[in-house]
Amino acid sequence: MHLPATAPLLTPIPDDLARQGWSHQRFALPAELTAALAEECRARAASGRLAQASVGRGEGQQIREGVRGDRIHWLEPGQSCASDTFLALMDELRQQLNRELFLGLEDFECHFALYPPGAFYQKHLDRFRDDDRRAVSVVTYLNADWQPEQGGALRLHLDEGERDIPPEGGSVVAFLSAELPHEVLPASRERLSLAGWFRRRGGAF
Ligand code: OGA
Ligand code: MN
Repeated sequence: MHLPATAPLLTPIPDDLARQGWSHQRFALPAELTAALAEECRARAASGRLAQASVGRGEGQQIREGVRGDRIHWLEPGQSCASDTFLALMDELRQQLNRELFLGLEDFECHFALYPPGAFYQKHLDRFRDDDRRAVSVVTYLNADWQPEQGGALRLHLDEGERDIPPEGGSVVAFLSAELPHEVLPASRERLSLAGWFRRRGGAF
């Protein structure tokens, strides 16, 4: 798959994060890449590789469908052409964030997420109590022809009020992991995304 040397559609993200702590870019991914990633997410689901997501980390980890109802599968390098292209794009963004905001982001972890109709993820922050490495969250949506009445918005709880972002295919939302409470509202159709986190170097808490 052809990959541009730079990701021009992601370039407003560092400025937005510095100014307001979040960024929403529609049409950020090439349509061909979005479609390939959606297909891959469905294939992983069909072959039973998506597991019920859990809450917390290490010994505190538990499955609570009342908190989050998505099914996930982690991306690793070398799984497919589409996922490698996506990881390369995210590495571009990581370097851009480091150049412009001096964030010292060291790596990126990311999983496919499938929310069946009616599933949701209650209001939360993306930083674990026992691990403060996640600095910037990036969610990429893979849903073709999403209609507002289908629900499934990402609701950002901003200082100035709530903001709902529809999970439109090819759009990307980025925000500061430790600072912005957010939730996923239930949808009337299956909702596919890639949820990822740029992480800082590990250190004592
Ligand atoms: C998450 C999350 C948001 C979304 O996985 O932590 O908040 O819109 N996802 O899928
Ligand atoms: Mn989250």
